[in-house]
Amino acid sequence: MNVTTPIRSAAPAPNDLSAFWMPFTPNRAFKRAPRMLAGAKDMHYFTTDSRKLIDAAAGMWCSNAGHGREAITAAIQAQAGVVDYVPPFQFGYPLAFELASRIAALAPDDLNHVFFCNSGSEAVDTALKISLAYHQARGEGTRMRLIGRERGYHGVGFGGISVGGIVNNRKSFGTLLTGVDHLPATYDREKQAFTKGEPDYGAQFADELERIVGLHGPSTIAAVIVEPMAGSTGVLPPPKGYLQRLREITRKHGILLIFDEVITGFGRLGHAFAAERYGVVPDLITFAKGVTNGAVPMGGVLTSDTIHDAFMTGPEHLIELFHGYTYSAHPLACAAGLAALDIYRDEDLFGRAKRLEPVFADAVMTLRNEPNVLDIRTLGLTGAIDLAANAGGPGKRGMEALTSAFNDHDIVLRLTGDTIALTPPLIVSEDQIGEIVDKVAKVIRAVA
Ligand SMILES: Cc1ncc(COP(=O)(O)O)c(C=O)c1O
Repeated sequence: MNVTTPIRSAAPAPNDLSAFWMPFTPNRAFKRAPRMLAGAKDMHYFTTDSRKLIDAAAGMWCSNAGHGREAITAAIQAQAGVVDYVPPFQFGYPLAFELASRIAALAPDDLNHVFFCNSGSEAVDTALKISLAYHQARGEGTRMRLIGRERGYHGVGFGGISVGGIVNNRKSFGTLLTGVDHLPATYDREKQAFTKGEPDYGAQFADELERIVGLHGPSTIAAVIVEPMAGSTGVLPPPKGYLQRLREITRKHGILLIFDEVITGFGRLGHAFAAERYGVVPDLITFAKGVTNGAVPMGGVLTSDTIHDAFMTGPEHLIELFHGYTYSAHPLACAAGLAALDIYRDEDLFGRAKRLEPVFADAVMTLRNEPNVLDIRTLGLTGAIDLAANAGGPGKRGMEALTSAFNDHDIVLRLTGDTIALTPPLIVSEDQIGEIVDKVAKVIRAVA
C-alpha cells in the first residue's frame, strides 16, 4: 500500500510541529526526530515515507480487529450521511440503544445497563460517580471512600489519577480526591518471574483490603476499582484466586467492585470481558478502546440491575443521575461500535485470541535469554518484557527500544518505562507472531 498524505493535507507531512502539544510524549525529542504514521491496514501501519511497520500494539490496545476494516469505515461513512449529531440528553438515537443491548449481551450476569461516554478516563470517572451516587440513593451516603491499587492505571481524569497508582501521573496534580486508599500491586518478581498466564503466588495481596476496611470501617467505603490485568503499568496478570478473593471481601462488606476493562474488554484475554475469564462478576465494568476498534472515540460503563434500579425511583419527570457528556453515544461511535462487534462475532476474534494464547506465550518466552531481560509475563494476547534500565536512568533504554523499533526494525511497539508491551491485534497470524518476536529480539540486542 502506498500511503502518501492524510486526506485534506497538501503537504507530504506536517512541516510545523510546534503547535500540537503531544500527550504522554517527550515533545522536544519527538519533534527533533518525529515518528509519523500516515496510514494503516490490518496488521500494519504505513509511515509518511511509505515504510510498512507491523503493529505489535493494536495502536494503543484499541484496534483488536486490525486496522482499516472496511465494514467499520463504511458504517462510519454511511452514518455521517444520515445524522451527524443527536443530543443524548432528553433525546435518543436508535443505534445507541441497539449498541447498549449488544454490549450488555456480551457482559456477564446481570450487567445489563450501559452508560456511554467518550474515553476510558471518562468511563472511570463515571463509574466512580455512579458508585458514590448509588450508595447515597439507598441511604448509605457515608460510603464515600474509594479504593484503587498501586501501579493501577485508570486514565487521567482527577478520579482516575486519584484511584490510580502510577506516581508520575499523580505527583504534579495537587491533592487529588480525598478519601482514597490503595491496595498493594500484585507483582513480586522474585516469586513470579517468567510466568505464563496467572502467577500461582499473590492471591493474598487481596487480603490487604480487609486491613483497609478494618482501618476505616466498611460503612465508609463505596467501591474498589482494579484492572483485572494491570496493563499500562507494564502488564501484571492477576495472581490465581486474587480477583475471586477481592469479590468475596467486597461482597462481605457491601462494597462495590469495579473492573476497569478498558484494555481487557473486547477480546484481549480471550473473552468479551476478563470478568468472564475469571468467573468473577463485578458490579460495574468500564470499557473503551476496542468497543469501536479504536475507529471513533467511545467509552462506557456497564452496571448491574441492582445499581441501575436503585436510581429508577422518585418522580418520573426528574433526572435520575446528574451526569453525562455532550458526546455520550455519538452516532458515529455507535455505528462504528456495532460494526466492530459484528466483526468480533463473525470472525470469532475472542475465541481466536484464546486459541493463540499458548502459541503467543511460547513465542514471547523465547526472548528470556536476550540481553537485559529481567522478566517476561504473558496473558491472553498480551506479553510484557522487562528490560534492565541503562546508565541513562529509568526509561532511557525503553525509549531507545521504541526508536530503534520504528527506525530500524519496522515494528510499532508500546513501551512503559523499560517494559515492552506486546498487544497485537487479535487477527495476528502465527507467522506474524514469529515475525514480531524476531523483530523484538533484534530491538533488544540493538539497545543492549
Ligand atoms: C485500564 C485503563 N483505564 C482507563 C484508561 C484511559 O483511557 P483513555 O486514554 O481512553 O482515557 C486506560 C488507557 O489506557 C486504561 O488502560
